[in-house]
Amino acid sequence: MWSSRALLLALCALSVSLSLTVARDAPVKRYVVDLDTAPEEHFLPICQDPDIQAMIPMLKKDVKDMITSLVPEEALPLLDVLTSDLDQYLPHPFAGEMRGIANCTGINLGEIVTLNLAYDLTAFCTSIVAQDSKGTIWHGRNLDYGFGDFLRNITVMADFQTKGQTLYTTTTYLGYVGALTGQRPNGFTVSVDERDQGAWWMNALEALLNRQASLMSFLVRETLAEADSYDVAIERLAYTPLIAPVYFIVGGANVAEGAVITRDRTSALDIWTMNPAQGRWYVLETNYDHWEEPPAHDDRRTPGMKAMNTTGQDAINASSMFQVLSVPKVLNRHTTYTAIMSAAQPQVYNTWVRWPEAQAAGQKP
Ligand SMILES: *[C@@H]1O[C@H](CO)[C@@H](O)[C@H](O)[C@H]1NC(C)=O
Ligand SMILES: *[C@@H]1O[C@H](CO)[C@@H](O)[C@H](O)[C@H]1NC(C)=O
Ligand SMILES: *[C@@H]1O[C@H](CO)[C@@H](O)[C@H](O)[C@H]1NC(C)=O
Ligand SMILES: *[C@@H]1O[C@H](CO)[C@@H](O)[C@H](O)[C@H]1NC(C)=O
Repeated sequence: MWSSRALLLALCALSVSLSLTVARDAPVKRYVVDLDTAPEEHFLPICQDPDIQAMIPMLKKDVKDMITSLVPEEALPLLDVLTSDLDQYLPHPFAGEMRGIANCTGINLGEIVTLNLAYDLTAFCTSIVAQDSKGTIWHGRNLDYGFGDFLRNITVMADFQTKGQTLYTTTTYLGYVGALTGQRPNGFTVSVDERDQGAWWMNALEALLNRQASLMSFLVRETLAEADSYDVAIERLAYTPLIAPVYFIVGGANVAEGAVITRDRTSALDIWTMNPAQGRWYVLETNYDHWEEPPAHDDRRTPGMKAMNTTGQDAINASSMFQVLSVPKVLNRHTTYTAIMSAAQPQVYNTWVRWPEAQAAGQKP
């Protein structure tokens, strides 16, 4: 059995080979999730969209392939236990939402649960939070995924609303109820990058079944829903027990609010903040601890920083951030989407699906 880490690292590190055809980076569709309905109904507007329905047969097959290649056999009985009493093991509203998605897609609940765990633990690659010369905070992220091909067609944005108001927005995939990228308007923005976790399946499942720890993506969604400021978000993301290590990259709505939280399971190991007054006007995280050199075979940090330095603080905005996230290696053939956010200007948030054949062009949004 391959470890997912090894597999995805290998995939993430493949050198980029580009063909120069027409770029077709495309903004993703956006839906409203009405939090005032039952959890089973939350994702129906996405799932019932005919464009998404057309992708479900492919999704079914890919889910099976992914589970076969990622999940160790000894984890399957634990997954069955989890699935058989989801409400006991997962916080509201996640269990109900997964049931609703299983019902709507015809994919069995056990597979939906596994899919949510698998995505949770394999999110590469690059996140940047920067402050421009006027003091506005920008947050950009690329999400690279080894099994990315089928994900591009089911990538969506969701505005989670209550009483007709957007409480928070995320970029997600059909079937995935957590959040790896999201924004609380006028509060904060957050993205998740994977951190080395070794053999995580068994540890993760045991922690979940003992109800000792959260999935990273659940914690992000709960934080988006409940934390009403950057500081509260940092606190919660830094100190809530998790099933595996991870990086949280957080941007705020006020000057100097930007940080990379390096997490192990129990707590933050390090909180690295921007410090524009002293010249550190951005923080950039890939999948390696910022105080260590990235490995030569997977250095996305150096090209990313070079592009940030060349762009400069005066010129950082949504489109130049997109350009930085389009330089070779930072953008690679596993990049499924690029998202740009700014908590103080929530209308800026958008997500573009990145198609490998478009990636030489690095188009502007
Ligand atoms: C499953 O879908 C059917 C048909 O759309 C619906 O009537 C039923 O209420 C759904 N069940 C759940 C648990 O959501
Ligand atoms: C995914 O979407 C693209 C662009 O719309 C389309 O060309 C492609 O055929 C789709 N893939 C599948 C498997 O449907
Ligand atoms: C980018 O600029 C920072 C600050 O001046 C510097 O420490 C870093 O080495 C530069 N990195 C690259 C790759 O240019
Ligand atoms: C973003 O900055 C670039 C470089 O300074 C500039 O050319 C572009 O017009 C700006 N775009 C917006 C939308 O402000």
